[in-house]
Amino acid sequence: MLKGKKILLGITGSIAAYKSVYIVRLLVKAGATVKVIMTPSAKDFVSSLTLSTLSRQPVLTDLFDEKSWANHVELGRWADLFLIAPLSCNTLAKMAHGQCDNLLLAIYLSATCPVLLAPAMDEDMWQHPATKANCATLVSFGNKIIPVESGDLASGLQGEGRMAEPEHILDYLRTNFFLPRPLKGKKAMVTAGPTYEPIDPVRFIGNRSSGKMGIAIAKELYDRGAEVTLILGPATSASSLNGISLIRVSTAEEMYKACTGTFDHADIAIMAAAVADYAPESVAKEKIKKKDAKLTLDLVRTKDILKSLGERKKTGQVLVGFALETNDGKKYALDKLTDKNADLIILNSLKEEGAGFGYDTNTITIFGKGGKEFSFDNKIKNEVAKDIVDTIIRLYYA
Ligand code: CTP
Repeated sequence: MLKGKKILLGITGSIAAYKSVYIVRLLVKAGATVKVIMTPSAKDFVSSLTLSTLSRQPVLTDLFDEKSWANHVELGRWADLFLIAPLSCNTLAKMAHGQCDNLLLAIYLSATCPVLLAPAMDEDMWQHPATKANCATLVSFGNKIIPVESGDLASGLQGEGRMAEPEHILDYLRTNFFLPRPLKGKKAMVTAGPTYEPIDPVRFIGNRSSGKMGIAIAKELYDRGAEVTLILGPATSASSLNGISLIRVSTAEEMYKACTGTFDHADIAIMAAAVADYAPESVAKEKIKKKDAKLTLDLVRTKDILKSLGERKKTGQVLVGFALETNDGKKYALDKLTDKNADLIILNSLKEEGAGFGYDTNTITIFGKGGKEFSFDNKIKNEVAKDIVDTIIRLYYA
């Protein structure tokens, strides 16, 4: 993925600069060409000899010396990506305000390639409103910021502000900039989470779905280039959704409406929500008071969203459902495939250790028409999402 990519690595004056040595090593090992630019104060933290040896390229610091002038415009145009790691508080502020008193800043201002920033500073500096405002300015310029990590800081304190670990930076870089995007131009919708069916103003019928599986699928589809709409039930926090469009719903009826409004324009629909099958026939206007020893609630079937999408599915649309079963999983999964006119059914067997609601891991088997069957090991949900999206790409978009 990184083979043949041209990366400019900017290093600023921060104790985390020693980690840049590893970044260069990892990038070169992955097949990238790396040119290192240092600010003058970065040289106090790490040797340019080490960096030039590892990158097999001269390290640049000065805009000009007695013999030559560094063509910052050319460098900014040469690169596929400008990574600045570590980014000190000072350089971050200068970038946000367009200052240009060294080569790194001149390249930043003239770069036409995407820019990725890995800040590193003490927690109080990181939390300062000025830094937050500067970060927001840089994001508004289209730069991406890889979040700082928590742990031991150079000050001796513990907290947020450490530069992301080199391996995390490489992962971020691959996923956000260099992942093949076979789903570019495709629209996808994903449902996730539980639904809550109100009984009265304070009570509802719900379930323990966390929404994690559906959220991971939505992120994976987005990373592969799709334009994604996530239709998300209650009780799940949806942080760092980046460019994913979010529609929040509460009841099965609301989810049905959101899905039917989105499906006609979607190429792929993945129904990972645990939708309530029954809802109270009527919702009490006031809180129900306890009276008799027994209380009976009349429940009515909710709309089967997956089935109704299966009925309106057009040629070329890929519809994927889930089945969560305790027994006869394969039989029920295959029944659902036909009954709901789905293209794929993903079976979670509750018999498997560490699979299903509330877990961070899952074990799945994917069933498709014509006897297709793909089994996967127990994995964390992000990895399971990759398996699901890989399977869809392989079957329908390869
Ligand atoms: N689903 C849906 N709308 C509903 C219920 C479920 O879209 N009202 C979707 C789920 O998101 C999932 C699949 O249908 O993709 C699950 O199928 P379903 O037959 O509802 O599963 P169970 O309720 O577990 O099935 P059963 O009643 O057979 O136990």
